[in-house]
Amino acid sequence: MVYKSLLKAAKGDVVRPTPIWFMRQAGRYLPEYRALREKYSFLEVCQTPELAAEISLQPWRRFGVDGVILFSDITVPAHALGMNLSFEPGPCFESPIRILKDVETLRRADPKELCPSVCQALRLIREEVGSSATVIGFCGAPWTTACYMVEGTHRPGFPTVMAMVQQNPEVLEALLEKVTSFLILYLKRQIEAGAEVIQIFDTWAEVLSEKRYREIAFSHLQKLLDAISDEVPVILFMKNTQAFFPLLQHCHAGVISVDSKTSLIQARNTLGRVLQGNLDPERLRQGSLSEIEKTTREILQEMSGAAHIFNLGHGILPETPLAHVHRVIEVVR
Ligand code: CP3
Repeated sequence: MVYKSLLKAAKGDVVRPTPIWFMRQAGRYLPEYRALREKYSFLEVCQTPELAAEISLQPWRRFGVDGVILFSDITVPAHALGMNLSFEPGPCFESPIRILKDVETLRRADPKELCPSVCQALRLIREEVGSSATVIGFCGAPWTTACYMVEGTHRPGFPTVMAMVQQNPEVLEALLEKVTSFLILYLKRQIEAGAEVIQIFDTWAEVLSEKRYREIAFSHLQKLLDAISDEVPVILFMKNTQAFFPLLQHCHAGVISVDSKTSLIQARNTLGRVLQGNLDPERLRQGSLSEIEKTTREILQEMSGAAHIFNLGHGILPETPLAHVHRVIEVVR
């Protein structure tokens, strides 16, 4: 076992066996997660450091993955800014942001006070894994975080956000600015508490064209990346990765997480970065063991000789059989 293999790969080393973890690896496909969630609500878990740490560690205890990601949600910072949040099971804000006054009423505070459980959970995780795995902190990108704060919940295409882009761009701009300032402090606190790598999730970049994203959201993302990328390696996940290639070539993230529709070979030839990915979560859930093995080997082949972190192209699906996860790890190792 290579010491901190994921951290090394994230910094650009070619590490073999390829380090592996799974986006959304702590979740409902794990019986031990479901057992804990029967006793506690999602937010209770996020706000109790011992529970958040325990759930973060579940996939590491079971599979020995090389990365342990903090258990929380990308909407938790908005909750800390004063927005009432519930999970049903997707995130739901009681009073979404619609006008400038809503942005102004958001709290301006130090995430150390607002998110103490996140920092304490990270300390517990780091203590437990020691040198055997890399601790990953995370947040949503400013754009994706703002999408939930404006839409209030997950709606395909985020129609309220798209209307705001057209009709009230100044509200969106003020929100993005406030969110970005908060996320910078939030990630700095995570790093102080023990996060060794940061992943930024920009799942809903895909509702904008590359050109539109560049106009509205890119400067905020770069500001966030610039604030922390001297301290730790940063992994950026954008769904519909291929569409954002021109922008990704200029973005200040050292590692790009590639979705399953994008060719790893093309990403390798175009982006010149460390790559993470990109096994299809549907394949992992529904494929036979031999199909999963074949696809896993193809991905390893495509990334041979290059710095690579093995992962899925998006989050693991709740019905994924544990034996399938075991097989991927076996093949990679
Ligand atoms: O990766 C991990 O294991 C760490 C924890 C984590 C969660 N959410 C826990 C969670 C992380 C990194 C996230 C990120 C997240 N949250 C994203 C970006 C990644 C992606 O999948 O695109 C997004 C878009 C969200 C918003 C969110 N939270 C949605 C859409 C949902 C509902 C969908 C679902 O999976 O049920 C959530 C709830 C959520 N976040 C759950 C978990 C384990 C399910 C809660 C439960 O019922 O137990």
